[in-house]
Amino acid sequence: MDSFAFIIHPISVKRDVQRKYPFLGRILSEHQIEFFSQFFPPVYLSEIEGITSAATGKQIKGWLIACPLTPRQMLELPEARVYRKIIQTGQMAERLGAQILGLGAFTSVVGDAGVSIADGLAVPVTTGDSYTVAVAVEALKRAAELMDIPLRNTSAAVVGAAGAIGQVCAELLAEQVARLALIGRRADPLEVLRDRLKVRARGEVVVSTDMSPLAESQLILTVTSALHAVIQPEHLRPGSVVCDVARPRDVSAMVAAARDDIFVIDGGMVDVPGPVDFHFNFGFPPGKAYACMAETMALALEGRFEDYTLGKHLTRARVDEISAIARKHGFRLSGFRSFEKEVTQEQIEAVRRNAKRRRK
Ligand SMILES: NC(=O)c1ccc[n+]([C@@H]2O[C@H](COP(=O)([O-])OP(=O)(O)OC[C@H]3O[C@@H](n4cnc5c(N)ncnc54)[C@H](OP(=O)(O)O)[C@@H]3O)[C@@H](O)[C@H]2O)c1
Repeated sequence: MDSFAFIIHPISVKRDVQRKYPFLGRILSEHQIEFFSQFFPPVYLSEIEGITSAATGKQIKGWLIACPLTPRQMLELPEARVYRKIIQTGQMAERLGAQILGLGAFTSVVGDAGVSIADGLAVPVTTGDSYTVAVAVEALKRAAELMDIPLRNTSAAVVGAAGAIGQVCAELLAEQVARLALIGRRADPLEVLRDRLKVRARGEVVVSTDMSPLAESQLILTVTSALHAVIQPEHLRPGSVVCDVARPRDVSAMVAAARDDIFVIDGGMVDVPGPVDFHFNFGFPPGKAYACMAETMALALEGRFEDYTLGKHLTRARVDEISAIARKHGFRLSGFRSFEKEVTQEQIEAVRRNAKRRRK
């Protein structure tokens, strides 16, 4: 049976360590976990079964394996050391017999986004970022429809727009919305992106290194590699939709607590075809996976055992191709969740009512 492996790592440090080591996760502080995990070997988590192509009936199996580093460590430890640890984790996938390896969350953000990691391994590697782009933009557009926000007349923003995922999301949105703000930390790469997008954009494209354009934006896609939330309640206008693709999250939990007039959705969640069992709780409801995991699975179902999405410059062609492959095998955008809870139709109605009241 064809197979894949996927690397995950602790993001919400204490909670995620408890998923595998309940006792250690309870007694150690976050600081202690961060310190000890530098010396911890890669961890085998589970075998995944039941993934079945809706098109061909082909079944695959997979493995979840963990790189013990946290997002902070991946950004702050010397790059070579982080690569070494991720490659060691990839070698575990090779020993298990995986034919393709997916890099989850920060293992795909660090350094050159998978290129050096793929160079250090025999197994083909993908970051999963191409399908993440496709699913994030689809989710934002579907949420806009639910909120009766017509794309053509809308102001939108991409936060983290100069990043690997952000750039292509911005490219796709620029062609469809009336005004697009590109937001990030450094003006230079944002200006380069703006100049490239201007040629095919429907309307104005502006650049900002602060969150002020969010006060005018009805649709926001946020995908930074920040370690802490960057979007706060006071940044947002009533009735806006925010699709948060980043892990750790970009949208502060305060938004859920303080703003009942904003529709925040968790980006990048898909339904997996077949009676999938991950045999490990990584925080999603049964049958659902991150889009980046789904890219790895879809490639395995398609028999495409090759390096697929690597590096910081994604292409539209790959985004379109992996969307078609995933659709063919039965992967679908999942229903909406917000801060890990399912969103109901009543909640959407309430957000619309509250936004109208707030605007008055
Ligand atoms: N949901 C999913 O399925 C899924 C899949 C893959 C990745 N992800 C998540 O997506 C996020 C981005 O991944 P990526 O590969 O696109 O990373 P990336 O290429 O490193 O891009 C991140 C961008 O965010 C910017 N940024 C960092 N901190 C910021 C801040 N405080 N304020 C504004 N901008 C900031 C960075 O700016 P600089 O250029 O200045 O550093 C960079 O342009 C990560 O959180 C990752 O875990 C989610």
